Amino acid sequence: MKRVILDVDTGLDDAAAIILAAGSKSIRLEGLVATAGNVSLDKTLENTLNVCEVVGIEAPVYSGSSRPLKRDRIHAGEFHGASGLDGPVFQPRKRQQVQKGSGIQFIIDTVMAHPHQITLVPVGPLTDIALAMQQEPGIISLVKEIVLMGGSFIGGNVTSDAEFNTYADPEAAQIVFSSKAPLVMFPLDCTTKVTLSPEALARYKTFEGKSAKLFCDCMDTYMEKYRKRGAGYPAMHDPLCIAYLTDPSIFSYERHEVSVELTDEASYGKTLRGKDCKEGGVLVAKMADTTRFWSLFDQALLQLD
Ligand code: BDR
Ligand code: CA
Repeated sequence: MKRVILDVDTGLDDAAAIILAAGSKSIRLEGLVATAGNVSLDKTLENTLNVCEVVGIEAPVYSGSSRPLKRDRIHAGEFHGASGLDGPVFQPRKRQQVQKGSGIQFIIDTVMAHPHQITLVPVGPLTDIALAMQQEPGIISLVKEIVLMGGSFIGGNVTSDAEFNTYADPEAAQIVFSSKAPLVMFPLDCTTKVTLSPEALARYKTFEGKSAKLFCDCMDTYMEKYRKRGAGYPAMHDPLCIAYLTDPSIFSYERHEVSVELTDEASYGKTLRGKDCKEGGVLVAKMADTTRFWSLFDQALLQLD
């Protein structure tokens, strides 16, 4: 059983990641921290609480950072809508409410209380994780693993070089990549290979339950946003980190050092490939077995209400 804290900037594919985590028998969610990213923190927090309520997640939800460490905020409303989660209609919540206290402190306290037990899964800008490392460097050696979605070695999706999560807070990303914590990275190289086809979405619409409906409502919007931008079918960026926790053999990997461009204006936020390593560095996902990924998704949706 993997004990997991999700750090999310809940937009449409973050919601899919939360659903997959909730429906995965091998994952125990210790808590979720909402951070600013796809949209502002008040919206990502609201979206996270709403998704947890519908899916039946009872783990605590905390508030993380409202802005990057140094740079101005950027958002990704063009892919996720003005709310960050356009599509689903949520009823007033009965159970989930934001916890008191900082999400960064929650990350620190949980990792320190359970050495080598807690896996952090940040699928937005890395601000919260960087702050937690700065405030309590002890978490770097005591975290079990940090499995993150971010970066790219094949060109960006915000600028020609930079991926959204690393571009949104490159200083935080550099702190995390240089931390020597056990890191697993899902860059665009891998995540753009796993897309949702209209046929697959139509099939998911035949599934019963609130979680399947929430997933389909999110994916309707996501697919339309991609279509309007001529960007192909929507990529399952964030859920791949969750699939890794359940079955890492779905992916192939390379291991090398990673750093983030912080000075050159044109390529700022780009992840740079460093030297190959046998151990240490970053385990970087490359290829994915899409059939096995979607089969995990089926199992999760069938498991949930
Ligand atoms: C990343 O950016 C966000 O818009 C997605 O949720 C994902 O985490 C992909 O670049
Ligand atoms: Ca995200």
